[in-house]
Amino acid sequence: MESGKTGKQALGDFVVALARFRLKGKPQELAEKLAAEFKPTPYLAEIGASGAFVYFNLQTEALFRTVLDQINTQTHLTPDEDHSALSHFANLSLSDAGADKLPEGLSLAKKNGYGTNKSGKGKSVIVEFSSPNIAKPFHAGHLRSTIIGAFLANLYEANGWDVLRMNYLGDWGKQFGILAVGFERYGSEEELEKDAITHLYDVYVKINKDGETDESIHDRAREFFVKMEAGDEHAVGLWKKFRDLSIVKYKETYARLNIWFNVYSGESQVSQEAQKHALDQLQGSGIVEESQGALIVDLKKYKLEKTIVRKKDGTSVYITRDIAGAAERFDKYNFDKMVYVVASQQDLHLAQFFKVLDLMGYPWANTLQHVNFGMVQGMSTRKGTAVFLEQILDESKRVMHEVMQKNEEKYKAIEDPQYTSDKLGITAVKVQDMSGKRINNYEFKWERMTSFEGDTGPYLQYAHVRLSSVERKNAPAVVLPPPAERSAAINVALLSEPKAREVILLLASYPDVVKAAFKSFEPATICTYAFRLSHVISSAWETLIVKGQPHDLALARLWLYVSAKDVLGNALRLLTLQPLDRM
Ligand code: ARG
Repeated sequence: MESGKTGKQALGDFVVALARFRLKGKPQELAEKLAAEFKPTPYLAEIGASGAFVYFNLQTEALFRTVLDQINTQTHLTPDEDHSALSHFANLSLSDAGADKLPEGLSLAKKNGYGTNKSGKGKSVIVEFSSPNIAKPFHAGHLRSTIIGAFLANLYEANGWDVLRMNYLGDWGKQFGILAVGFERYGSEEELEKDAITHLYDVYVKINKDGETDESIHDRAREFFVKMEAGDEHAVGLWKKFRDLSIVKYKETYARLNIWFNVYSGESQVSQEAQKHALDQLQGSGIVEESQGALIVDLKKYKLEKTIVRKKDGTSVYITRDIAGAAERFDKYNFDKMVYVVASQQDLHLAQFFKVLDLMGYPWANTLQHVNFGMVQGMSTRKGTAVFLEQILDESKRVMHEVMQKNEEKYKAIEDPQYTSDKLGITAVKVQDMSGKRINNYEFKWERMTSFEGDTGPYLQYAHVRLSSVERKNAPAVVLPPPAERSAAINVALLSEPKAREVILLLASYPDVVKAAFKSFEPATICTYAFRLSHVISSAWETLIVKGQPHDLALARLWLYVSAKDVLGNALRLLTLQPLDRM
């Protein structure tokens, strides 16, 4: 069944091609029979036949009342579920000291709000995302993982799952040896405290440059890493300082992005015992072979090439940490599902370690899923200089601030222009990222993403702001009754324009859109819906006027707009955005 009014759909609210059911008899005759025998019900007004198609028209008043009342009840009248008490992860009472506080006015304000469902009730999922590498740039791949991963975590929640948000930092490896050597030469405690990420990156770049001509730097770096792996107090102490201070800085940026984590894990957190255990098990099961002192798993049979699981100098490798790390996570969290949000450049890596876990006989191996995405080309500031995410966000904010200042009057009415321009800038970046299919590459385009026209983030925020302003602008002449009284007090039968029907049918479809997005794991499904709703609303202003109308008509229309605002707001929040009320 499809809704919407183009082509065949122009026939009715829903149209079904009878041929699809492969029933006995001619579809055309069956359609006519159905239409002839139909008697109206409180919800269905009409069933008609048109060739081999059957169309359904809903009872307008019942439809309007049901949809608007559902939105109203779930947004304003249903209390929030006490999620924590039921939570799988909360019940494990894991005291993860590093967990982020939930942002104020939590993004998915209502876990049982309009558009959510309980299909995942009782099930738990770990969503691993973002996962930047300390001392290396937070590049576009990390940004996409952050944006898409945070959305998927929300999406799981919207479908009733219990979600653990995990950041798996690249916080172990020889690069820390390089960094330690570099810190001796170029480091500053003061700079480190101020902004660890920028400072460590500076140091890293400088020492790597030195390392191009001075091989001894690499020898010392290797030595340092060997010490780290051996648990040497000084080496581990320095490493820990780098890590802790970097996390402080990451948290600031995540909070700015309206994103949080329950657990800051990382490659360093995978225990050596777990890795040893994994290697022993692998050796016992005969799927590894030794080659020149290194241990190798041959996955050619599965078209997954060969992969080294232990280097010949005995140091651990990325894939072994992933293999052992997954097993540790299962022991600790007992998840029903685990999702890794990682760039498609790592398709092979993820397929390999999933396969190895499967070959090791872990029954939960088939609950792991890689959600991948394409590349971003040309992510830099307008002058072409950025390495850091913060620079991108600052620039986007600046652009938005400039646009806002152009309208002096409106600008003066904004309480906190810094906040507003920052949220607008972030929306621009996120929506550019989420409006295409995940797997597609896209080009980072300042002009396009910050425009208020076309399918952009600022356009969505503008649509929300305009919906928010109807209530303000019509008070005190027209004021909605309290939520509990709306359904009884407002005459929805007055919404007789086709435009009103179009809006309401679209609002009615939102819960199904959330389910569809959950099947495809595509943020674009929600983005597309938000754009559609915004377009329909923008074409409604001319016909569905509130100001100066008879009071009961004005009330009915206002209720429609407020409902549209609630639904658009929910869609934006699901996308991790913070809907604005003014700009
Ligand atoms: N830190 C890695 C990188 O930047 C991404 C980690 C992906 N997750 C994983 N479990 N391997 O390339």
